[in-house]
Amino acid sequence: MQKNAWDSGTKLLHIGLSTTLTFEMFEGFLVPDPNTRLYFIIHEWGGLLAAAILIVEWLWIYADRQSKILFPWNSNGISAIKTDIMALFKGKLPQAGRTVGLPGFWHGIGILSMTGLAITGVLIFLVIPGGRGASSSSAGAAAFTTLSEVHREISYVAWVYLIGHVSAAILHQVRGDPVFRAIFWLRK
Ligand code: HEM
Ligand code: HEM
Repeated sequence: MQKNAWDSGTKLLHIGLSTTLTFEMFEGFLVPDPNTRLYFIIHEWGGLLAAAILIVEWLWIYADRQSKILFPWNSNGISAIKTDIMALFKGKLPQAGRTVGLPGFWHGIGILSMTGLAITGVLIFLVIPGGRGASSSSAGAAAFTTLSEVHREISYVAWVYLIGHVSAAILHQVRGDPVFRAIFWLRK
């Protein structure tokens, strides 16, 4: 059950991340369509907004000392993740909320994959052929293609994260653990 309440800063940032990044993930499907430049422009500016929120999220992770929960890549963390995975096979969901284990580890994978998209996205913005960012040289065209490919590869990891994350949240909720209210409801 949800024992650890999220603080307001984490909730606000999660609302910012879940709306902008989920929007960008779906909108990304429309970007490669050569006939619809407007979709690309929307993706660009939506992506820059999401990247700005991710910068604040990283500062928050540092200030709020969340890295041991999000990146438990040490022997204690790995054994907590293993325990959660073994319990899953017995039909028991891991403890939701702010604890070291599988959910925190998965959230960390989400932050990293979305940050990968944000970094490549901002770099793409800087080399858009014809120019809108810093460069509009012909060298920009090759960089644009390479960066777009890397951006697309990272998006596959981000999709695995997002589908796993939302499915786990729904499973918790239907089993009577009010995780949606805990993270999306701003009032205590
Ligand atoms: C439709 C979109 C989304 C829904 C419905 C959703 C739902 C949730 C829920 C219910 C929790 C609480 C889990 C718990 O109590 O253990 C949570 C936590 C979390 N979610 Fe999402 N989420 C969404 C999108 C995202 C995205 C795009 C990210 C970006 C990486 C993200 C990152 C996180 C993180 C990091 C936490 C832990 C709180 C924190 O440390 O900030 N979520 N999410
Ligand atoms: C952090 C926010 C962002 C997210 C979550 C995101 C996500 C995505 C996704 C899911 C795709 C579809 C990949 C595919 O299957 O083809 C995509 C494509 C694309 N995105 Fe982003 N994006 C973000 C930011 C940006 C930014 C700032 C730009 C800069 C202009 C950008 C430029 C592109 C381009 C050019 C493509 C097409 C790549 C291709 O050729 O397939 N993205 N994005």
